[in-house]
Formats: sequence, C-alpha cells, structure tokens
Amino acid sequence: MSSDDAPIIVNEEALTEAFIPTRLLHREGQIRELERCLKPALKNRSIENIFLMGTSGTGKTTIARWILENYFKEISAYVNCWKYRTTHEVLKEILLCLQVPVHGREPTGELTKSLERIVKKRKIMFVLMKWIGLMILTCCIC
Ligand SMILES: Nc1ncnc2c1ncn2[C@@H]1O[C@H](COP(=O)(O)OP(=O)(O)OP(=O)(O)O)[C@@H](O)[C@H]1O
Ligand SMILES: [Mg+2]
Repeated sequence: MSSDDAPIIVNEEALTEAFIPTRLLHREGQIRELERCLKPALKNRSIENIFLMGTSGTGKTTIARWILENYFKEISAYVNCWKYRTTHEVLKEILLCLQVPVHGREPTGELTKSLERIVKKRKIMFVLMKWIGLMILTCCIC
C-alpha cells in the first residue's frame, strides 16, 4: 500500500462512545482524587455523590468510566442521560448494563423493584450518569 492509500483514520473504534483509552494521559492527579473519593466504597462504606465538571472533551466521561471499569466492573452501570431521558429509559439502561434481561415494556415500578433486588444482592452499586458538561457518579450501599 502506498502512503496515498493509507487510511486517514487508523482506529475507528477510538471515535465511538464505547471506547475507553487504556492509558489516560495527563490525568494522574484527577485519577488519584477520584480513587481517594471512592476508597471508602471499596470497604463497603458509603460515599458522597461525585460531580465531575469541565469543558467539553476534557475527559470527564472517559476518566469516570475508566475508574468504574478498573475497580467496580460487575457492580456499575453507565447511562448517557442525554440519550435516555425518562425514568423508565434510565432504569432500563441501568438494568441492561447489569446484564438483567429487560424488554422495555415493563412498568417503571417493576424496573425499580428489579434494581432494588440487585442492589440488595450485590450490596453495592455505582451508577454513572452523563449529562452535557457534567458527570454524576452516585453510589448505593445496603
Ligand atoms: N486522558 C486522556 N488521554 C487520552 N485520551 C483521552 C483522555 N481523556 C479523554 N480522552 C479522549 O478524548 C475524547 C473526549 O473525552 P470525553 O468524552 O471523556 O470528554 P468529556 O469531558 O466527557 O466531554 P463532554 O463534556 O462533551 O461529555 C474521547 O475520545 C476520549 O477517548
Ligand atoms: Mg462526557
């Protein structure tokens, strides 16, 4: 392949919402700060909600998803609240992230009960909600 034929985009996956870089550049301080905030949760103690704020594209979503992937993979869910706006849609997304089969026609109350059952079973649960210019990381322990 000549250099003229070389693709402009080397890795298309990096442009998708699902992509999380393996190395987060220049965010050591922010990662340490998030780890400090989440430390009690690793010992099943409650934590405050965490709000990440910053200009668009500075890595709020990426850093929060990276932390959950690395520390709380099985007990966390990520919801893009800009895309999923109603209580029903958000609950459905959380349950799907947690591998619970949901077809979407269940009443909201039923979805709430399913989520309550999971939180009771797994003892601890994190939900990361994305909104424009803001990430909310919330934790529920029982
Ligand atoms: N520390 C980092 N090192 C390498 N790439 C990064 C880093 N942080 C973010 N990125 C990349 O930069 C892009 C934007 O990051 P991200 O979507 O997390 O920003 P954001 O602050 O959540 O933006 P918005 O406010 O628009 O939601 C993504 O493609 C992500 O993979
Ligand atoms: Mg974001």
